[in-house]
Amino acid sequence: MSRLSDSSLAFYRETLAGLPVFFIHPKYVRGDVGDILLRYIIDFFLARGGRYAKVGPFDYKVRFLNGIDSRYTEILGILSKNGFEVTDADQADIVKDLESFEMPIWVKGAHQSLHRENITFGFCEPIFLQKYQKFLMEHFPYWYDPKEAQVDPRLRILAFHSGDVIGFTAYAKEEYWYIWATGVRTDFRWKKIGSVLVFLALEEMKGRGASKMCISDCPLSFYKVVEGKVVRRYICMGKALK
Ligand SMILES: CC(C)(COP(=O)(O)OP(=O)(O)OC[C@H]1O[C@@H](n2cnc3c(N)ncnc32)[C@H](O)[C@@H]1OP(=O)(O)O)[C@@H](O)C(=O)NCCC(=O)NCCS
Repeated sequence: MSRLSDSSLAFYRETLAGLPVFFIHPKYVRGDVGDILLRYIIDFFLARGGRYAKVGPFDYKVRFLNGIDSRYTEILGILSKNGFEVTDADQADIVKDLESFEMPIWVKGAHQSLHRENITFGFCEPIFLQKYQKFLMEHFPYWYDPKEAQVDPRLRILAFHSGDVIGFTAYAKEEYWYIWATGVRTDFRWKKIGSVLVFLALEEMKGRGASKMCISDCPLSFYKVVEGKVVRRYICMGKALK
C-alpha cells in the first residue's frame, strides 16, 4: 500500500476529512483490504484533527467522482460495515431523448403564470452579461466564471424579475449536449422557474439539432422534471470520527 501524504487523494480541512475516491480492485473486494484501507485512512485523518469523514465530493472544487456508483454494493457494504452512513443518494446521471421533444403543456402553463407575476425569461444577451455575472457572484459564486463574455449568449437562459436576474441555466455541447448548472435565487424557489429554465434549454438544444441531452451528477429530486432515463446513481457516505 502506498503511503498517504498531504498531497494524496485524501483531503482534510479543519475537522472535515474527505475521500473523493475509494477504489478496491474487484479481485480483493471480498477480502479485508477495504477494512484495512479505511482504518489506515481514518487514523491518518484522526491524527490531523479530523472529526468527520465523507466519501464523495469533498467540495465543489475537489470532486473526482460524484459518489459511489450505487451498483457497487460491495464497496457500499464495506463502508457501512465500518460505520459509514448514507448522507446523499440524490445524485444521478440522466439521459433525455430529444427526438420527439415537445414543450409539455404544464411548462407552457407555468411560463404563462410566471409572466403574470412579472417573471420573464430570455437569453443572456450582452446587455445582461454584467447583471448575470453579479448574480452568479452573489448567489452561486462556485459557478462564477470571469470568461463568461466569450460564451455564446444563447447557451445561457436567464429568469428576470423587475429587471433583476433571479435564475439561470447553463448548457453546452461537447460530444453531446448537457446542462451543467441551474440556479434560482432562494426567495424565488418552488415556483417552477427552474423547470421553465431547463425546458427552455431543451427547446434550444432541440432547435440546434440535438437528439439527446445528458446531465451528470445532478440532483434527481429536481431534474426528474425532464423525465429522462436515469443511467447512474451515486451514493455519498459519511462517518463521525472518534
Ligand atoms: C434546484 C433549483 C434550481 C430548483 O429551482 P426551482 O425554481 O425551485 O424549481 P421548481 O420550482 O421548478 O421545482 C420543480 C420540482 O423540482 C423539485 N425540487 C425543486 N427544488 C428542490 C429541492 N431543493 N430539493 C428537492 N426537490 C426539489 C420539486 O419536486 C419540484 O416540483 P414540485 O414543486 O411539483 O414539488 C433551486 O432549488 C436551486 O437553485 N438550488 C441550488 C442550486 C442547485 O442545486 N442546482 C441544481 C444542480 S445544477
